[in-house]
Amino acid sequence: MSEIKKIGILTSGGDSPGMNPAVRAVVRTAAKYGMETYAIQCGYEGLLQGDIRPISGLDVDDILRRGGTILETARSAEYNTPEGVQKAAKKCREMGIDALVVVGGDGSFRGALDLSVNGGIQIIGLPGTIDNDISCTEYTIGLDTAVNTCVDCADKLVDTASSHRRCMVMEVMGRGAGYIAMYAGIAAGADAILVPEQEIDLIRDVVEPIKHAKAAGKKHFLVIVAEGVPNIPSIEKIIREKVGEDCRTITLGHVQRGGVPTAAERVYASMMGAEAVHLLAEGVYNRVVGMKDGKVVHYDVVEALSMKKKMSKDLIRLAKELTL
Ligand code: F6P
Repeated sequence: MSEIKKIGILTSGGDSPGMNPAVRAVVRTAAKYGMETYAIQCGYEGLLQGDIRPISGLDVDDILRRGGTILETARSAEYNTPEGVQKAAKKCREMGIDALVVVGGDGSFRGALDLSVNGGIQIIGLPGTIDNDISCTEYTIGLDTAVNTCVDCADKLVDTASSHRRCMVMEVMGRGAGYIAMYAGIAAGADAILVPEQEIDLIRDVVEPIKHAKAAGKKHFLVIVAEGVPNIPSIEKIIREKVGEDCRTITLGHVQRGGVPTAAERVYASMMGAEAVHLLAEGVYNRVVGMKDGKVVHYDVVEALSMKKKMSKDLIRLAKELTL
């Protein structure tokens, strides 16, 4: 059984809606085991600076419905050095923190692994990023809200596109991954969805689907493209030149990272946050929590970091099947 008495929690990397529900779940579940929780502000940088305070179940009472992260997040150059890791481990020991829950992406988990291997602190990773680019999980905390934000924006763009008989190209985030684009594209009924997981031919993947839709009688069009796709400005050009449609390109940007977490996000983040504490309570350390087939699972951090993710072929096929 566990010897963990004090858990530190931090959020790291890009913020994502749902981080707050995850923090709440860690704090409240830990209290059920009689464990104390400590909020570490601004990620690993805050840990180095000793920006750490006790956090109670009441402190997290109203954060379920708040976007962003109340713990803030930052990048730390100092932490990425062996001295930085030792200093961070010392800070944990000074505070009596024997385990750390890190909400973030792969880079954050690598930092956590360092702290465990070289600093002797037990760690649990929770996947927090809108990009869904963490291999060991089908869902990352933030994805659902970001996709909903994109769908809301796409619906608005379609309103104006339909009034002007135009084509809208909407660029969404995702870093090197196309999950936000794929899910938002399917949900918004895009005429073409472009993701970096697929080799792209603009004639085959943009011009032809729009021409088909036009031939079927459609007068306005929506293309959703993930930011990781090369040469995005050429999409508008090719639509103008080869289809003869008026076109606008919109980069959605950081609006996708904000907003009130959706209900699904709150539930998934809560399940994962609670699981982090269950594991610590059971003496199961150095794991990354994920979701597989709708269930919460966990993997050894090293294994999690070595896994490779592939976008489902069914999803890619579905996107094509739904076009006109
Ligand atoms: O990883 C989340 C993310 O929003 C990516 O989708 C995007 O490429 C990147 O972060 C933007 O980073 P920054 O907030 O540093 O501009």
